[in-house]
Amino acid sequence: MIDDTVFVHKMAVVETGATIGANTRVWGFTHILSGARIGSDCNICEQVFIENAVQVGDRVTVKSGVQLWDGVRLDDDVFVGPNATFTNDKFPRSKRFPNGYPVTRVKHGASVGANATILPGLTIGADAMVGAGAVVTRDVPPKAIVAGNPARIVGYVDAHFQPGGEPLGETRRKAGRVAEVTLYEIKHVTDLRGDLTVTELERDIPFPVRRVFFIYNVPNERIRGEHVHRQLHEFVVCLSGSVSIVVDDGAQREEYVLDRPWLGLHLPPRVWRSLYKFSKDAVLAVYASHEYDPGDYIRDYDEFLAMVGQR
Ligand code: TYD
Repeated sequence: MIDDTVFVHKMAVVETGATIGANTRVWGFTHILSGARIGSDCNICEQVFIENAVQVGDRVTVKSGVQLWDGVRLDDDVFVGPNATFTNDKFPRSKRFPNGYPVTRVKHGASVGANATILPGLTIGADAMVGAGAVVTRDVPPKAIVAGNPARIVGYVDAHFQPGGEPLGETRRKAGRVAEVTLYEIKHVTDLRGDLTVTELERDIPFPVRRVFFIYNVPNERIRGEHVHRQLHEFVVCLSGSVSIVVDDGAQREEYVLDRPWLGLHLPPRVWRSLYKFSKDAVLAVYASHEYDPGDYIRDYDEFLAMVGQR
C-alpha cells in the first residue's frame, strides 16, 4: 500500500495497513495509524498525527503540529497550516467516548490558516480561506474568507470589487465582469423636501416583474442567498443602509456594494449570489421575474459548477 516513490523519514511511524499515494513525503516524528488513507503528491510535515478514519486527497499539505482525528476528510489540494486544530467531539469528557465521530470535511482547494480551530462536523467549502487563529463554528461557504472568533466572513477569494456610491454616468448602467450582471442607476430626484427614487417597472427593469419581496432585520453576521436560480431574474435595490452582494458565474467573482437607494443590481439566472455585510438598517427590495418556486433554486455550489460547466 506504499510504493517506493513514497518518502517516509526514518523517524516517522507509518503503521502497517495505512495507504499512502505515490510521491507523498512523510517527515520526522509523524505518526500515521493503520486505517488512514492518504493520496499522492502530499506533504505531511514534521510532528503530524493521523488517526484511522481519516481520508486525505492528492496534493495536500499538512504543516507541522497538526492532528487529523477520526472523521477528518481533506479533499484534493487542501492546505492545513501549522498547529491548526481539528476536533471531533462536541462535548468532550474524559473517558466517555461518543458512539461515532462526525465528518469534518475540508473541500477541494481550501486552506486552513495557522492555529485555526475547526469545531466538529463542519464543512469548509471549496477554495475557502480560513484565517490564522480563526475559530470556525459554522460551515464555511465555498470561496469565503473567514477570520476571528467566532469566525465571520470578511470577503470572498478573488472577488473583484465594485465600490458603491458613484453615479454611473450618461448610460446610467455598468456591466461587470460576471456575465450579464449589471448595475443600474435608477431615476432619483433630490430637492429641499427630501429624496425620491422612481422605478417604472416596464421601462427601468430588464424583465417583466411578477413578484416583489423585501429583506430587512438581517443580523450583520448572516449571509443570505448562497444559491443560484435556473430561470429567475432578480433586480435588487437597497432602499436603506447597505449590503454587499458577491456574484459568481463559476469563472469570475465580483463584489458589489449597494449603499444608495438609486442603485439597482440585475442578477440574471445561473449566477451564484451571496448577500452579506448587511448594515443594521438595511432594507432590500427585490423585484423578481417569476412567482416563488423552490424548484428553481440550486443551493449546492458543486451542482452549480457542474451546471455552468466549470468543474
Ligand atoms: P430564501 O430564498 O431561501 O432566502 P435567502 O436565499 O435570501 O436566504 O427564502 C427564505 C424563506 O422564505 C424560504 O422558506 C422560502 C420563503 N419565501 C417565500 O415563501 N416566497 C418568496 O417569494 C421568497 C423569496 C421566500
